[in-house]
Amino acid sequence: MASLLYTTFTVLMAILSSSIVCFAFPGFSFGWGGGAGGDGDGSFGNGQGYPGLFPEFYSFSCPQANDIVMSVLERVIAKEPRMAASLLRLHFHDCFVQGCDASVLLDDNVMFASEKNSGPNSNSIRGFEVIDEIKSKLEEACPQTVSCADILALAARGSTVLSGGPNWELPLGRRDATQASLSASNKNLPPPNSTIQNLIKLFRRQGLNEVDLVSLSGAHTIGMARCSAFKQRLYNQDGNDQPDSTLEITYSNGLKTVCPKTGGDNNISPLDFASPSTFDNTYFKLIMFGKGLLTSDQVLLAGNVEETMLLVKAYAEDYALFFDQFARSMVKMGNINPLTGYQGEVRKNCRMPN
Ligand code: HEM
Ligand SMILES: *[C@@H]1O[C@H](CO)[C@@H](O)[C@H](O)[C@H]1NC(C)=O
Repeated sequence: MASLLYTTFTVLMAILSSSIVCFAFPGFSFGWGGGAGGDGDGSFGNGQGYPGLFPEFYSFSCPQANDIVMSVLERVIAKEPRMAASLLRLHFHDCFVQGCDASVLLDDNVMFASEKNSGPNSNSIRGFEVIDEIKSKLEEACPQTVSCADILALAARGSTVLSGGPNWELPLGRRDATQASLSASNKNLPPPNSTIQNLIKLFRRQGLNEVDLVSLSGAHTIGMARCSAFKQRLYNQDGNDQPDSTLEITYSNGLKTVCPKTGGDNNISPLDFASPSTFDNTYFKLIMFGKGLLTSDQVLLAGNVEETMLLVKAYAEDYALFFDQFARSMVKMGNINPLTGYQGEVRKNCRMPN
């Protein structure tokens, strides 16, 4: 009797787990979210956009995946709050280059050049050791099951939550790229001195609209930027040796003490100086006062595009509206061109292909 029950159980489990494998195939639609689609390389394909990810992906194969991610994040972020910001940014820099496939984590290899050395990433993105730690704990608990791309998505959500921001249901099942693209990293990631037109263009390229642009820019409610990312605004915004006229003057003078005209390029300043490690809507309030740190922050209001201007005002006035849209846009960004089914692989070490 006991053995019959056991056999029944085993068969049932086999059926369940094989159906999980089926679910992982592209093309199955569960109706979650619209899903952005872009090939991350210029042309915007995948019009119907459904990427085949779903929140229960690891329910049978690694039910404790999110708990493992969260336990590492809790310890690391308690010790260094900025790490939450750095991990949130890693997911963005992953998704905008070839889709959310953990390409950003790959080190230099005989086959390709690492994205870590691109203009926007070099000397700037951080958090790789934390991802390594999460990965090794997951490899112990569930060998070769949880992809590095999903770890980045889980870490971005967990970091947002632990900083006081919104939570959301996160579609999973991304697989890892075997290649990185240094050139796409240079081409697709927006520079800090972008015009509003350039920001809109680079987000559209990923299937993201103006609402996504403004809400996702709200990630700058946490974290820091180097002097080199905003120096132009302080001394010579338009090549006429004048500061950026949209930058509030007392704030600007304070920034000059952190960021002298020559040198100090790696000195850092908070993106939201009022609450640099709390995920809230003060980022938008500061922009309303001319205190957005980067050109790309301030142009959301000052760039003369009515839609983004109105959104900055709306999010400054209503944090719940911002939280709700941020969560939606994070899911959309996380759905950019994932590898699913038999595409790609589940890396054993996030820094190199298997
Ligand atoms: C809209 C276009 C964007 C531009 C031009 C931009 C640019 C930048 C720059 C220049 C920095 C400072 C890096 C440094 O100085 O080392 C930064 C930091 C950061 N970015 Fe963005 N970003 C954009 C959008 C986003 C998005 C969509 C997210 C996430 C959803 C994000 C999350 C962050 C975070 C959290 C930090 C702080 C990182 C840390 O402290 O380590 N950014 N960004
Ligand atoms: C942005 O900065 C880069 C590098 O410093 C510079 O070449 C470019 O002209 C700047 N773009 C704008 C719009 O100011």
